[in-house]
Amino acid sequence: MKQVESSYMMDISGINALVTGGNGAVGSNLVKRLLEQGAKVTVLDDFSQSGTGNLPRHANLTIMKGDITDKKILSKVFSKKFDYVFHLAARFANELSVKDPLEDLRVNVQGTLQVLLYASKQKPERFLYTSSSSLYGHQIKPVMKEDMMPNPSTPYATSKLTAEYYCKSIYELYGMNYTIVRLSNSYGPHDPPGRYRNVIPNFFENALHKRPIIITGTGKETRDFTFVDDCVDGIILAATKKGGKNETFNLGTGKETQISQIAKLILKITKSKSKTNYKSMRSFDHVKRRKMDISKAKRMIGYNPSTTIERGLEKTYQWFLSN
Ligand SMILES: NC(=O)c1ccc[n+]([C@@H]2O[C@H](COP(=O)([O-])OP(=O)(O)OC[C@H]3O[C@@H](n4cnc5c(N)ncnc54)[C@H](O)[C@@H]3O)[C@@H](O)[C@H]2O)c1
Repeated sequence: MKQVESSYMMDISGINALVTGGNGAVGSNLVKRLLEQGAKVTVLDDFSQSGTGNLPRHANLTIMKGDITDKKILSKVFSKKFDYVFHLAARFANELSVKDPLEDLRVNVQGTLQVLLYASKQKPERFLYTSSSSLYGHQIKPVMKEDMMPNPSTPYATSKLTAEYYCKSIYELYGMNYTIVRLSNSYGPHDPPGRYRNVIPNFFENALHKRPIIITGTGKETRDFTFVDDCVDGIILAATKKGGKNETFNLGTGKETQISQIAKLILKITKSKSKTNYKSMRSFDHVKRRKMDISKAKRMIGYNPSTTIERGLEKTYQWFLSN
């Protein structure tokens, strides 16, 4: 068994990092943290799914607009040498992939392979890929472990799993070290509401506009909601710690929260009088309970998520108020 590593982060000041999807909900928080720690950051994003105002003006930040499947823009981006590549760009998430599975395949699989091939010519210290808890799909037990057989039930989940395999193939072929993190229901600042977006920002949006909160299902369904700062901690630890090399980690909290509890907490925080309405579950989403076993990430990279759901929702609310 590998040694336990302490949770303090490596000094990354002065490193060159590429963040694809760096304007997105998780990506923009990652970029902010990398800049705070003194890294030089290049963002590649086509801005197809994220608004403006997510990224700061910063002397150490270069923003390049383009599609990860476009070889011209990739040649331009990779004319710079990167120490770390954080690959987050993706079409997110399940519902969008059901609407257009071929576009999902193009961006999440073909795009990831393109980025991997360009990065492999440089062999950065690490290629960090953000995968998803959704690839576990239906399992008999509600606790997800990295060594379980994946059971993806949406095109999105299948695309995230396929791209994991490509990270491994490129390592086998060209020796580029990778780390895969499987994120679980990230929430927090810069995660906007919207038709295809996440439950927490949509609940906030409705509560703040006195519209009913819509729960699809009985409300007893659970997920492992992870505050974005904890996701970012895990991503940086996974990419920079020796113990993360060529490994796959669950990044969650290890706790499950019922959707009805999320609705109650948001109504309380916002002091909203919105009603809660129930609809039948969406055809593509029948997973009743899910939480992540995070013992591997704790043991091997010192991951230690610390934000309670109450605190995380309060911080998310503060962001909604300031926007
Ligand atoms: N947020 C979560 O709960 C969660 C859970 C599991 C996995 N993930 C994974 O983490 C990563 C980041 O998620 P997020 O919540 O920040 O998503 P997001 O949609 O907020 O960000 C994705 C970013 O990628 C960009 N993008 C999309 N297509 C692109 C393309 N063809 N070329 C260049 N850029 C493109 C979008 O404009 C956006 O800024 C994704 O890979 C996602 O699959 C997220």
